[in-house]
Amino acid sequence: MKPLSSEQVAAFKEAGFLQLKRMLDPGLCEQALDRLWAALPANSRMRRHDASTHVGPFPADEESRDPLHIRAGYLWQLRECGTEPLLIELAYSPKLLAVAEQLLGEGMLAKPTVGGRPMGSEGPAWPGGPTDPAITDGIRGIYCTRPYADEDRSVERDRGHTDGHPFHLGLVGLLADVPPNGGAFKVWPGSHRRLYPTFQLQYDQPRLPYYDHLPRHKGIVHTPAYLAELERVMEDTEPVDCWGERGDVVLWHHRLAHMAGHNTSSVMRQAVLCDFSRTDLNHRRMDPPQANMWRDWSEDLQVS
Ligand SMILES: [Fe+2]
Repeated sequence: MKPLSSEQVAAFKEAGFLQLKRMLDPGLCEQALDRLWAALPANSRMRRHDASTHVGPFPADEESRDPLHIRAGYLWQLRECGTEPLLIELAYSPKLLAVAEQLLGEGMLAKPTVGGRPMGSEGPAWPGGPTDPAITDGIRGIYCTRPYADEDRSVERDRGHTDGHPFHLGLVGLLADVPPNGGAFKVWPGSHRRLYPTFQLQYDQPRLPYYDHLPRHKGIVHTPAYLAELERVMEDTEPVDCWGERGDVVLWHHRLAHMAGHNTSSVMRQAVLCDFSRTDLNHRRMDPPQANMWRDWSEDLQVS
C-alpha cells in the first residue's frame, strides 16, 4: 500500500510541493526542541517557555557566525545536530521514507550517516559566503526564525529563490505550530516546471570561485533565461504560505521558487530541514535539464 494517492502525486507534479499533516512523531519533535534549546548559551535572554523573549533579533552579544550554530539577526540555525540519531530518526522515519521513495523510486534514496559530518563542518564556500548545504552526512538542521516584533516588514515584497546545491526533494517539517505569516515556508506553485529548463545543469548551478579583487563575482551563476523567468514568476504567481501544526511537513521539488517567509506573527518558527537525494545523483548531476523533467523520479510519479 503506497502512502500517497495518485491525486497527491499528480498534485506534487503540478504544483511542485505537497503539504502533509502529522508526518513527524510529536515525541521526537519535542526531543528535537529539547536539543535545540539545550544548545543555546546560558547567557541568552531568550527563554524557551517565555515566547515574549523570542521576539526580535538576537542582540549583538548573543550572535554567532559559527556555521554549525548560527545566531544572527532573526535567524537561529542549529546544524551541529544534523547527523545525531535523534534528528535522523525524525527526518528519515519509515513514514517519511515511504513517501520519499514513492516519489523518487523504491530503494533509490541516499541514506544518511549517523555520527557523520553535519552541514557547516566545512565552513563557508568563500569568506563571508554561505555554507554549502550539499556537504552533509545528515539533515540540514533545525532552522528558526524569530518574530519581527514591532518592526513592520509585512510590507516587504516576498522574494523567492531556488537553491544552488544538488538534491531532489526538500523537506520542511514543523517542530511546533506555526501560524499564517509565521515564516513557516513560502512556495511559488508551478515555478519548478518553468525554472527547471532554464538551468545549465539538471541539479547543480555553476559557481565562480571567490577572488579578493573581484568581490562582486562570487556565488552562483544564473542564466539570463533563469533570471527572466524568476522575475515573471514573482510577478504572475501568488505564493503559498505552508503554515501548520507540529508534525506537519511540506515536501518540495528542488527547482521550486521558495523562501523561509517573513515572520510577522508572535511565534518563533522552529522547523527541521532536510534534503532527500537519490543514490544516482552523482551520475545524473552531469546532465543538462531533460526534455522529461521527471526522468529521474519514480515510475509511479511518471505515470501520474
Ligand atoms: Fe532556499
